[in-house]
Parts: sequence; structure tokens; C-alpha cells
Amino acid sequence: MLKARQAKTIANTGNRGKPFGLAHVAIIMDGNRRWADLKGLPRLLGHKEGVKTLKELVRYVGSNGLQYLTVYAFSSENWNRTAQEVSYLMELFAAVVAEELEELNDSGVRLRFFGQLSTMPGNLQESFRNATERTKHNEGLSLSVAINYGSRLEITEAIRSIGQDVAEGNLSLDKIDETVVSAHLYTKDIPDPDLIIRTGGEMRLSNYLLWQAAYAELYVTPVLWPDFSCGEFEKAMVNYAARDRRYGGD
Ligand code: FPP
Repeated sequence: MLKARQAKTIANTGNRGKPFGLAHVAIIMDGNRRWADLKGLPRLLGHKEGVKTLKELVRYVGSNGLQYLTVYAFSSENWNRTAQEVSYLMELFAAVVAEELEELNDSGVRLRFFGQLSTMPGNLQESFRNATERTKHNEGLSLSVAINYGSRLEITEAIRSIGQDVAEGNLSLDKIDETVVSAHLYTKDIPDPDLIIRTGGEMRLSNYLLWQAAYAELYVTPVLWPDFSCGEFEKAMVNYAARDRRYGGD
């Protein structure tokens, strides 16, 4: 018999078809600039190469029936990079959405963007809204892009919003539980990740999905993101398959 807490956590991770034995993979795509440095290329070209990796991976996991893929494209801390790099990334995001939307839509991908989107450049907000609206009825891979995202800010906003519900008399204090908190996060419509992959070797979560990662398995590889091929993804799946997920139980 599953304990109530365990059953609830499993329910929260989704339970439809799982081609790789899991429903949701979240990725920290790190190492683009180091990849360019190693090749003797301008550093920012590493991001362009990173987009190619993402495109191939989306095609691969989408055609294999993965349900949810979430990628960390820009953290709220990334604004501290040089103005040149920030504007390069903003232009890259706009170009990728414009160039890829038709193919993603045709292959049944449902796109979502989450983070503090209201402070992003207006053209990007518009293109994210359009892509989200355009693909919202698709039933293939659900691809979420965390952009201008930071977990602490997400949780802070959730607390504020729950506080407002309480203050307005729409929620009583004793009704606040984990389900209520989850329902106030950007990720309210998607299950918690089963596996978080980080490329580039750093052993940290960097303010990514801190609440949602409570029971996620972690896989860190030294492979730099532009080199993270479908074969590398498969290695992560094999590694995950050998894990024993106990959700804090025996
Ligand atoms: C981290 O590598 C990567 C980023 C900050 C940007 C990732 C963005 C993409 C791959 C483009 C995705 C596009 C869309 C539309 C989803 P880094 O710069 O921190 O590399 P380093 O660790 O070598 O410095």
C-alpha cells in the first residue's frame, strides 16, 4: 500500500504513457560559452550551437512520446551578463520562436513559457503569447521554456498570491497545503519533474524548480550543452532507469 503522501507525490508526477520510464525531464542547459572557448570560437556562438542541440533533442524526445520537457533558457540572474550577451540572447530567443514555431506546431508540440515574462522585451512577450496560444491544443510533447525564471521569485510570488486569497476571504489558513502552493506556481499545469539533467558539470540547481524538484532525480554530466546529443540523453535515461525512487519512504 502506498502511503498517502507518497501516493499524492506520484499522482503529481503524472501517470500517462512513459516511453523512457518517466513523464517529465527538466534540463539546465549549461556550458555553451565554454564549448565555444574550447573551439576557439566567439563565445556567443556557443548559444547558437546550443539551440541546434535543443532542436535535435526536442525532435527526438517528441517523436519518442515523452510528455514533458522543461528547459532553463534564461535565469533571472542572467541579466548580470554583459549587455551584448543579454541582447544577443534576446534576439536569439525571438529568432528561434519565429523560425521553429511552424515545425513545432506541425509535430504536435505544445509550447509554454514561464518566468517573470512581464519584464521581458515587448516583442518577445508577444511572440511567447502567440506561440502559446497557437499550440495550446496540441497533444504531443509539452515543451516549457523557463525564461527570466528564478525559483525563489516564483515561490515569493506564490506566497503573495496565496496571502491575497486569504486576505480577500477566498481561502482559509488551514486550507493551505502543498497542493495549494503547487497551484500557485508557474508550473501549476504540469507535473513535477522526474529527472533534472544538468550539463556542463556544475553540481547545483541554480534557482531552478526548487519546489518542484523535491523528489526529482538529478543527473549531472560534464558534457557541455552543445555536445549533448540524443545518445547522451539516452545515457541519462539508462542511468535514471537504475534509480530506486522511494519518495522518502522505505
Ligand atoms: C548556459 O550556458 C546557457 C544559457 C544561459 C542560454 C541557454 C539558451 C539556449 C541554449 C537557447 C535556447 C533557446 C530557446 C528559444 C529555448 P553558459 O552561457 O552559462 O555557458 P558557460 O557555463 O560555458 O559559461
